[in-house]
Amino acid sequence: MNFIHDRFASKRDAAEKSARYWNPAKTQFWQEVGIDFIIDRRKGYFLYDYSGKRLIDLHLNGGNFNLGHLNVELVATLKEGLDHFDMGNHHFPSLCRTALAEALHEASPDSLIYTVYGASGSEASDIAIKSARYATRRRKIVSAFKSYHGSTGLSVCAGDERFTERFLIARPEEFVNVPFNDLGAMEKALAGGDVAAVILETIPATYGFLMPQDGYLPGVKALCERHGALYIADEVQAGMMRTGEMWAAVKYGVVPDIIVVAKGIGGGIFPLGCAIMNERAGGWLKEDGFAHISTGGGSEIACVVALKVLEITQRPEVRANIQARAAQFRAGLDAIRARHPDFFLGIRQNGLIFGLEFPRPKGANPVMRAAYRNGVWAIFSTFDPSVLQFKPGLLVDAALAEEVLAIMDRSIAEAHAGVKSGRETVEG
Ligand SMILES: Cc1ncc(COP(=O)(O)O)c(C=O)c1O
Repeated sequence: MNFIHDRFASKRDAAEKSARYWNPAKTQFWQEVGIDFIIDRRKGYFLYDYSGKRLIDLHLNGGNFNLGHLNVELVATLKEGLDHFDMGNHHFPSLCRTALAEALHEASPDSLIYTVYGASGSEASDIAIKSARYATRRRKIVSAFKSYHGSTGLSVCAGDERFTERFLIARPEEFVNVPFNDLGAMEKALAGGDVAAVILETIPATYGFLMPQDGYLPGVKALCERHGALYIADEVQAGMMRTGEMWAAVKYGVVPDIIVVAKGIGGGIFPLGCAIMNERAGGWLKEDGFAHISTGGGSEIACVVALKVLEITQRPEVRANIQARAAQFRAGLDAIRARHPDFFLGIRQNGLIFGLEFPRPKGANPVMRAAYRNGVWAIFSTFDPSVLQFKPGLLVDAALAEEVLAIMDRSIAEAHAGVKSGRETVEG
């Protein structure tokens, strides 16, 4: 695309301009950890660096690209949609918004009726928190330590202080954190009867895909019911069929009061955030439909793409592929782990969500670097850099899965040897 590419004389020039005009510290961070990646072309599950180097994408931007980059059906849907629809007018009833809301209801437990739209997961989390506060007339929000629900006003307060402190955002005391998987702590937090909602990532992503222990999430839901609080399932990363079911919370036996969705639902093409909610949570919609305003929220053209995303995602062959690939990746990773039991320490898994455990504190970094060198892009977990996020796409086929496993086999061996010899470190 000449009007973009012509601005840069070389990859180095692009990196320097990125540091100058976009984000100096972020650009420098990647250079320092040995990932000199400037993404150029992309297709399916492949990313191409500015230099032409091909990488298989196992990061998928947190699930944004579940269906691959520039998925052919989604691109065709977007192009066709643009003959008729644009972002739309956010005040009026709309065919696209209504069609998607109905489809989301059909894809969710029966009690979840309304969809309120935002332009991102952060906004959808804010909407969920606002709705819970309206429904309960309470302010307190309980979430897990090391969670991430977004970067906007309320969502950032529900997450880790890593994202509030720098901006002098004093987290109001009505935002309370408890350890994930600790029902006793959750019970204490709810016991006062003053909690509006518990918001939990069903499988905390930024914390390395920590898996909920048996009975934990249904236990939290039961406590919410007992103490009059709403249960908000943040499914931005765990939802949209990644576990083999549309919503991970439902797979764990929970019917949430609100489900927060973003990333993958936009097909990696047009951003969208959704808060799907039950009658109680959506009460404000009957009283004051103008109470949450968002010009880009529920953009009609985003809804057109999202409807197609939902349809593809729910195809029986896609569900079957997820099951088959989940088993294939598990078997392959188990075999690799058996060769490095003192380095590749464990595998967290639900469906196509994997967290690969390496020595603390930052053992995922040398593996990420080696995988990058060898042609796979998978990222460490921000709140636990001993865990490598390993998220294959929903449409990955058996041959590509084998290729990924072969690259991981080589990369983990190289990282292990590097750490043993002192060339690599798990400290930095
Ligand atoms: C679990 C979770 N919730 C919410 C968000 C916020 O979504 P967005 O970046 O679209 O605002 C993210 C983004 O990474 C996320 O991972």
